Amino acid sequence: MSKEKYTVTAALPYANGPLHLGHIAGVYLPGDIFTRFLRMNGHDVAFVCGSDEHGAAITLRAKKEGITPQEIVDKYDGIIRKAFKDFDISFDVFHRTSEQLHHETAQDFFKVLEEKNEFTKELSEQYYDEEYDQFLADRYISGTCPNCSYDAAYGDQCEKCGSTLSPTELINPVSTLSGKAPIMRTTSHWYLPMERHEEWLTEWIQEGKLDGKQQHDPSKWRNQVIGQCMSWINAGLRPRAMTRDLNWGVKVPVEGGDGKVLYVWLDAPIGYISATKQWAADNGKDWKDYWTGDRKLVHFIGKDNIVFHAIIFPILLKAHEGLILPDNVPAYEFLNLEGDKFSTSRNWAVWLHEYIEAHPDRIDELKYVLSSIAPETKDSEFTWKEYQSRVNNELADILGNFVNRALVLTQKYYEGKTPALGELSDYDKKVISQMEAIPEKISKLVYAYKLREAQAEAMNLARLGNKYLADTEPWKLVKTDPVRVETIMNIALQITANLSVVLQPFLPATAKKLGEALNFKKDDWSSGGKLGHLSEGHVTVKLAILFPKVEDSFIEAEVAKLEATKMVETTFDPQKEETNFDDFMKMDIRIGTVLGAEKMEKADKLLKLLVDTGLDKRTIVSGIAKHYTPEEVIGKKVTVLMNLAPRKIRGVESQGMILMAENGDNELSFVSPEKDFEAGSGIH
Ligand code: MF3
Ligand code: ZN
Repeated sequence: MSKEKYTVTAALPYANGPLHLGHIAGVYLPGDIFTRFLRMNGHDVAFVCGSDEHGAAITLRAKKEGITPQEIVDKYDGIIRKAFKDFDISFDVFHRTSEQLHHETAQDFFKVLEEKNEFTKELSEQYYDEEYDQFLADRYISGTCPNCSYDAAYGDQCEKCGSTLSPTELINPVSTLSGKAPIMRTTSHWYLPMERHEEWLTEWIQEGKLDGKQQHDPSKWRNQVIGQCMSWINAGLRPRAMTRDLNWGVKVPVEGGDGKVLYVWLDAPIGYISATKQWAADNGKDWKDYWTGDRKLVHFIGKDNIVFHAIIFPILLKAHEGLILPDNVPAYEFLNLEGDKFSTSRNWAVWLHEYIEAHPDRIDELKYVLSSIAPETKDSEFTWKEYQSRVNNELADILGNFVNRALVLTQKYYEGKTPALGELSDYDKKVISQMEAIPEKISKLVYAYKLREAQAEAMNLARLGNKYLADTEPWKLVKTDPVRVETIMNIALQITANLSVVLQPFLPATAKKLGEALNFKKDDWSSGGKLGHLSEGHVTVKLAILFPKVEDSFIEAEVAKLEATKMVETTFDPQKEETNFDDFMKMDIRIGTVLGAEKMEKADKLLKLLVDTGLDKRTIVSGIAKHYTPEEVIGKKVTVLMNLAPRKIRGVESQGMILMAENGDNELSFVSPEKDFEAGSGIH
């Protein structure tokens, strides 16, 4: 097969949180399998990735954690980078969009397009938060989704129904900074007039034709990818702002760009190019070789990234001129976790770095399970129960059992030496031909981006071997027909050798162990499926158990960890943002005694209380009428927030607030001193 050139990218993860299994199953692991496979086939490959460190996802996280955006990206880039390394994802380079090289690359790219008049500059009205003095881009604005009525949709996207939104489409928009309704203010931005590109995009996506030439094979593109793109195009493409009023990001490098940065979805994909540049510089290569000519560009992404990789970035690449467009955009659906969506904010996730820390010797097990359930064509689900059954019933009982038998019996009968291959029975011939057919089947599936089936096909080789030994029963035959057993064991060892080849892209650590036990270390695909890998007398060694069984206690502990998350989440609010001592000390909190209480007119939740605070007697309106009658309240010792600014509630001035405890069932209780302290006693 002819050698080809590939540049393979995996979506740059946002450096605003750690990686969870959903990210791995639907982007990074498939990308890794694909590139390992290409390398084994001798193709010229670059596999690039890096941290996506700009955009509102980062600045909002920084605000939440009370640290700077730079500190946020440093923290998560570190966690992500280490997890990828420990999980042995074989990137050639893992770069960062906060690097100087990336800023320059993105700015140059922008300038090229600006000079070619690929942008328009327009004034528009945008939401603005007066309290924070800031325009509200994308995630800085939230409101009700016009499509599904989800009430926490963002200005750029609804995470519930997945639709792409613009801020003005939201119903009842509020600023995520101040929580208040924003105002409209005029600003100017650079826009990408996407509608100019409708015609060639349609032809390119549907027919694979670009400038009259066949550029890709649309029959290899996933239906979902073509479908999503065409529904965008058919709805009519519109100009899309390519700049934002923010101070975190790549500065707009042309006149009038002060205080503005590039839109994160313009800057991030260019990160693939910057990463390639860095790698090329470090390895004496020319990055242009990886972005021009007859090279295939492949983007591994999640489905929420489709329009950016199959419409917007291609527009930018084509407009820039001279750069290649994707050959394919294998997009993955979503992985769910134990019946619910993965959610970083709700902590409903299995975090990759935590898994690795807890089970450092079970990397291939996780790879296997995630590839088996990869959401290639529809959403799928990870459960610990399935993890256990796949590891135990498939990896341990089929693959592990087979290679263990093959190697142990070889030790036992022949002191580890490969016995002779004698006369072949019809059954032997059938097994051998099935073995020989497997690499080709895997190849076809990999090139069709059906990695899930490809892995299953590799496992079929282990199944074949396992069945072969079970059917031929060399352990019984050894007493009566030792010559026949030599042939059987030779074939079993050849199958093991082939497993160490075909498993490499999927289970690299396991394949390596097999190769070592066999003294056979082939890492080219063309050596797969062969008979006679191990010549007579070739010495093999013992192999430790490949896949120890996953005990019930293992998965019970993992499930309990998740359940704890769920309980905390459904019952109580998450911990609030960090505050400081000074702010806390500004609050004047004291014990008070309720002297009088009465219902308020036309307000069924409110009681008007007269409270002795030790300093004075004051009126406080409290929302406790659903929980206490006036009679119950009189005489009670309560906790009063004294120095809250007075507020008029239903015409009555409330001079403070009664602090209440609220349990998981939303019942309220006064917070009263445990000893009988007098009114006026301070609380701190
Ligand atoms: N950070 C984005 C996400 O997680 C993906 C960026 S991909 C890139 O959804 F192409 F923009 F880099
Ligand atoms: Zn929605």
